[in-house]
Amino acid sequence: MKKLLAPSILAGDWWNIGEQIEATIRGGADLLHFDVMDGHCVPNITAGPEILSCVKRRVSIPIDAHLMIENPDRYIPAFVKAGADWVSVHIENVPHIHRTLQLIKDLGAKAGVVINPGTSLSLLEEVLYHADFVLLMSVNPGFSGQKFIDRSVERLRILREMRDRINPNCLIEIDGGIKEENVAEVVRAGADVIVVGSGIFSAEDVEARTRKLKYLISSAVAV
Ligand code: DX5
Ligand code: ZN
Repeated sequence: MKKLLAPSILAGDWWNIGEQIEATIRGGADLLHFDVMDGHCVPNITAGPEILSCVKRRVSIPIDAHLMIENPDRYIPAFVKAGADWVSVHIENVPHIHRTLQLIKDLGAKAGVVINPGTSLSLLEEVLYHADFVLLMSVNPGFSGQKFIDRSVERLRILREMRDRINPNCLIEIDGGIKEENVAEVVRAGADVIVVGSGIFSAEDVEARTRKLKYLISSAVAV
């Protein structure tokens, strides 16, 4: 299975965001990770569907909208209409997760379920049948630039075993604190989609850093 690199663009420099996004694409980015925060679900506020549609008009790679908002069902249609190709919602935050995943699929997007570092993976046993991807948080959601929680590597291994048993088509995405130093480890533990925010946008040369991460990902797979 091809591994995908997803720059988390809200970690970018918003004065120069268009140029920075283009640099990640030249460097080999496979999809763009777009974090949506409403100040209720997490202690931070980011961007909505209008900003997403502005990005969508200029890029050809898919957009992965990670919704950290209250009542996501209410906003999912607007995000898909704006151009989100992948949409994920937190299992901690949705009362009827099957219904929400179905809503996303019915609108024609890939449906993902997100799980926080402190939530038991056993909650995914049933929902894995219905998800196109699972996003395992390796930091607590809310901010870029946080430290990777080491226990996430073991959680990836456990999740991969569950995924292989329950729904081999479901992709595993990892988000939070991924850098050059630990990207190979998360790939070997089972990540298919790797989100990187500050690990890309803190670089002087965003294109070169993206290319380096792609190289590290593909050489980890080869091991
Ligand atoms: C955190 C977000 C992440 C974050 C990643 O709530 O979901 O996508 O922007 O940034 P880094 O890679 O810097 O941890
Ligand atoms: Zn995210």
